Amino acid sequence: PETGCLSIIVLGASGDLAKKKTFPALFNLYRQGFLQSNEVHIFGYARTKISDDDLRSRIRGYLSRGKENEGEVLEFLQLIKYVSGSYDSGEGFTLLDKAISEHEFSKNSTEGSSRRLFYFALPPSVYPSVCRMIKSYFDFKELPAYCITYVKYPQVTVLADLGGWTRIVVEKPFGKDLASSEQLSSQIGELFDEPQIYRIDHYLGKELVQNLLVLRFANRFFLPLWNRDNIDNIQIVFREDFGTEGRGGYFDEYGIIRDIIQNHLLQVLCLVAMEKPVSQKPEHIRDEKVKVLQSMLPIKDEEVVLGQYEGYKDDPTVPNNSNTPTFATMVLRIHNERWEGVPFIMKAGKALNSRKAEIRVQFKDVPGQKQGRNEFVIRLQPSEAMYMKLTVKKPGLEMSTVQSELDLSYGQRYQGVVIPEAYERLILDTIRGDQQHFVRRDELKAAWEIFTPLLHRIDNGEVKPIPYKPGSRGPAEADELLQHAGYVQTHGYIWIPPTL
Ligand code: BG6
Repeated sequence: PETGCLSIIVLGASGDLAKKKTFPALFNLYRQGFLQSNEVHIFGYARTKISDDDLRSRIRGYLSRGKENEGEVLEFLQLIKYVSGSYDSGEGFTLLDKAISEHEFSKNSTEGSSRRLFYFALPPSVYPSVCRMIKSYFDFKELPAYCITYVKYPQVTVLADLGGWTRIVVEKPFGKDLASSEQLSSQIGELFDEPQIYRIDHYLGKELVQNLLVLRFANRFFLPLWNRDNIDNIQIVFREDFGTEGRGGYFDEYGIIRDIIQNHLLQVLCLVAMEKPVSQKPEHIRDEKVKVLQSMLPIKDEEVVLGQYEGYKDDPTVPNNSNTPTFATMVLRIHNERWEGVPFIMKAGKALNSRKAEIRVQFKDVPGQKQGRNEFVIRLQPSEAMYMKLTVKKPGLEMSTVQSELDLSYGQRYQGVVIPEAYERLILDTIRGDQQHFVRRDELKAAWEIFTPLLHRIDNGEVKPIPYKPGSRGPAEADELLQHAGYVQTHGYIWIPPTL
């Protein structure tokens, strides 16, 4: 592993994402020894004028997972400094530069490289200006670090060639449609090279999503079955049992398709559907994902059902005439040899009757069998599990059949193993320079191509959401679409996560 000074700069440090996800993930990495206090320093940057201690006390309450001790929390908080400034003027960035350089001087007196990770916990509207600032103040990749040090601070002599890197981590929404996303990509792309850009989709950091390729390509069970000859349909489902909760203003601009389907569910779909990559190299894996996306055509209106929960528009930040869907079910089709004719049904909704995310692979009928179809379910959350629904003889004297399951429930099988948070894992990847679980520019473009025509029709009011009751399954029309696509619901069977 690389050694030397590591500066992690959290831009938008006083915001929600930073507080709830970024800092807690950094803390967990610190606790587990992935961030060494003699190398790492964390800088929070935002517009709000507060002190180091104000920032520390704001994030402190979010760091707890119950297992750490107070000492660790305090040590970690001491690594954080705060700098305030705007996102588009040099003043704040000069201060930030000074703070980082001081830290680098003090730590880099020994050997090692100088690594700078900029985490954008920011609205995308400021990405271009922040990128320009970083580029002009911090990214000197063309010069060895000792030259920069000398150019900027000739009074200080640093002898070693420190090397190092500058990376940026950005998060969706990457635009609102193909054109705006491409514009954003080229603005960022003019300033940074693709290997410096980490586009986070946190679903790629979830344990069972990371397991998908191993599962598919390391098991004889799946190799011959994973295709149109055996699989009838595949569902990728995201359900939440709460509404937009204070995020109405953001959400109304985007809607459930841009918030969940175009990124999180589509990324999962790629891993479910892609061909075996030539190697485990990040570029080879991402090449295969792009091919899946390029084999898809834009979605047809008759294969979409949209919904909006009743009460959504009561949120004062949501316009009264909002046409934004909070629920969507749609059929995607992959036109290639493996998947021609197999519907991939994407379903996502807020304010439904349960919270879960899962992949449900439904196999074709067995001739003469009435008991229900085989299904292989990968439950991403909560209660991570994989189970196979299968028909067995009902135990007992009678000769009858029943549906049962082979169940790999993580909580039971891996007792005592703490499953890392998605952000924790992904931030570690950005430090290590592994882009496998990040979205490449061409992937993003292909993803927008699939959804943009439909999104434009929704934005123009040509396709309208159907109202549904909060706490329900969503509009009944969605279940009809599922059936129409070929999904057969099993009756009289329910999988119950094992209790410990
Ligand atoms: C975010 C969406 O990307 O993912 C939220 O913006 C959503 O609307 C969240 O609630 C869900 O993430 P998770 O990890 O809780 O499933």
